[in-house]
Amino acid sequence: MKSRHATVQLCRLLRESEGNIVSGGHVSRVLSLSRQAVWKAVRDLEEEGFVVDSVPQKGYILRELPSNDLSPSLIGSLISPECPWGEEIHVFQSIPSTQEAAKRIGRQSQTDGLVVIAEEQTNGRGRRDRVWISPRGTGLYFSVFFRPRMLPGRLQLINLAAGLAVRDAIGAVCGKPVSLKWPNDLLYGGRKICGILSEASSDPERIRDCSTGIGINISLTREQLAVRGLENAASLGAGTETVHRGSLCAAVIEKFYRLAADLANDGGYSLLSRYREECSTIGKNVSVLTEEDAFSGRAAGIGDNGELLVEGKDGIRSFCAADVVHATPDVKDR
Ligand code: BTN
Repeated sequence: MKSRHATVQLCRLLRESEGNIVSGGHVSRVLSLSRQAVWKAVRDLEEEGFVVDSVPQKGYILRELPSNDLSPSLIGSLISPECPWGEEIHVFQSIPSTQEAAKRIGRQSQTDGLVVIAEEQTNGRGRRDRVWISPRGTGLYFSVFFRPRMLPGRLQLINLAAGLAVRDAIGAVCGKPVSLKWPNDLLYGGRKICGILSEASSDPERIRDCSTGIGINISLTREQLAVRGLENAASLGAGTETVHRGSLCAAVIEKFYRLAADLANDGGYSLLSRYREECSTIGKNVSVLTEEDAFSGRAAGIGDNGELLVEGKDGIRSFCAADVVHATPDVKDR
C-alpha cells in the first residue's frame, strides 16, 4: 500500500475537523481537486481502513481511524506539512528487508525522504552482517531513503542523527526515557530496543544516496526475545499500553529530517554538541569490539565525524565502527 498526496491531505483535513462535516466544496478548494478526485480520495482512504461517512449535499465526516496502525496515509498526515520527508510512504506486509526495497524504489524516484515500512521482514539485516529478527506485527521496521549532501567520511553523523531522532520520538510519543549507546543503539532498562543501520552509495567526493533503516522492538515479551537468543534485548511496549507504530514512525521521520537538515546547514555543529551531551556512553568504562580486536578503556568523547574516542592504558584510540559494551552501566542506562 502506498500513500498519495491527495489521501494524506484529505486525511489531515478530516482529522482536523474533529468529527464535524467537511463540505465537498471546501475539500475540493483546499486540495485543488475536482469533486470526482475528492470522491476517489475518500474511496482510497476507505480502502486503507478509514471509516468516512458521505452525507448527501453536505460533505464528509471522519468516523474512525484504521485499526491498522501502519496506514500510509495516516502516517503521512501525522507528519507536519513543512517536513518534505515522508511524502511517499510504502507499506508492505512481508518483504525480505526494507533496506533493499527503499534503495530499489528510491533510486527510481525523485522523492527525497521516501519511506518503506514492513509488517514483517524475512531477511532483516543488522550491523556487521547480523540478522535483525523482525516477526510480523511485533515491531516497527522501516527505512528512509534520501540524498544527503555530504562527504562519505561523515556518514556516521547520519547515524548519530537517527539515534537522537528515535530517542526524541520515543520520549514524545511514548513518554519513555531511553538511553543512547554509541553510535545509535537505544536502551530501555539497559537492554537494546532499537537498532539503526545506514547504508550509502557514494563516490570519492560525495554520498549519492543513503538508506537508513530503523528497527524498534515493540511488543515481543522478554520470554519471546529469549527464545530467539535475544537475552539482552527488550521491547518498548511489552507489558504496558500499546504503542501506535504509525505515530512513532511519523515522529521519527520528522525529527530525523530536522536533524539531517541542521547537519547540512551547520556541518554537524549542533548535532554533535547535542549528541555529546546525551550519549550515555561518554565517561563510561567500555569494551570496544571491532572486526580485528577488542579494546578496553574509558569513553572520552566523540570526534567531529562521529567517531568514538576511547582512552586506554597506552593513549587514546578512535573508532569509526565497532560494537561497544558498557562496563559501568549507570543511571543514564535506564
Ligand atoms: C543493528 O544491528 O543494530 C541495526 C539493525 C537495523 C534493523 C533495521 S529494521 C529496518 C531495516 N531493514 C533491515 O533489514 N534492517 C533495518
